[in-house]
Amino acid sequence: MTKQMDQKLLDMLAFFSTKPNGLIPFYHKLQEELGYIPKEFIPQIASSFNLSQAEAYGVLTFYADFRTEPTGKNILKICRAEACQANGCHKIITKAKEVLDIDFGQTTADGKLTLLPTYCFGNCANGPSVSLNGRLYGRVNTQKMEKLLASIL
Ligand code: FES
Repeated sequence: MTKQMDQKLLDMLAFFSTKPNGLIPFYHKLQEELGYIPKEFIPQIASSFNLSQAEAYGVLTFYADFRTEPTGKNILKICRAEACQANGCHKIITKAKEVLDIDFGQTTADGKLTLLPTYCFGNCANGPSVSLNGRLYGRVNTQKMEKLLASIL
């Protein structure tokens, strides 16, 4: 952790730890700043929020949106919620995992892409839905998935 980040982290902790239910907004802000939430920050976070380390870590790992490892250069999110399941998202999940040779929550060995699950983009009528670096795609089939992956690999 750089000195500058150290001060920034302390400022953020000072700000959010005084807010009611400030832990989740704090995690969002920290992830926005760093791209992930380093596990080594947990003792400092727990003490600032007056929680046990297990509680601070439990909240962090409960939500699928929080990451404790740095992500790859690109982020592919695939919706696994009900409407997308009904539209066959399992086929594109299988295809993505096969092409990338990684599972959800992992990053390719070359650091090019991280694969993450999502539970609804609000694009249910056009499922299966995926997002690549924040851009949403609907009605994704295995061919479209292969093309999307080929565009960044
Ligand atoms: S269920 Fe997949 S976008 Fe809503």
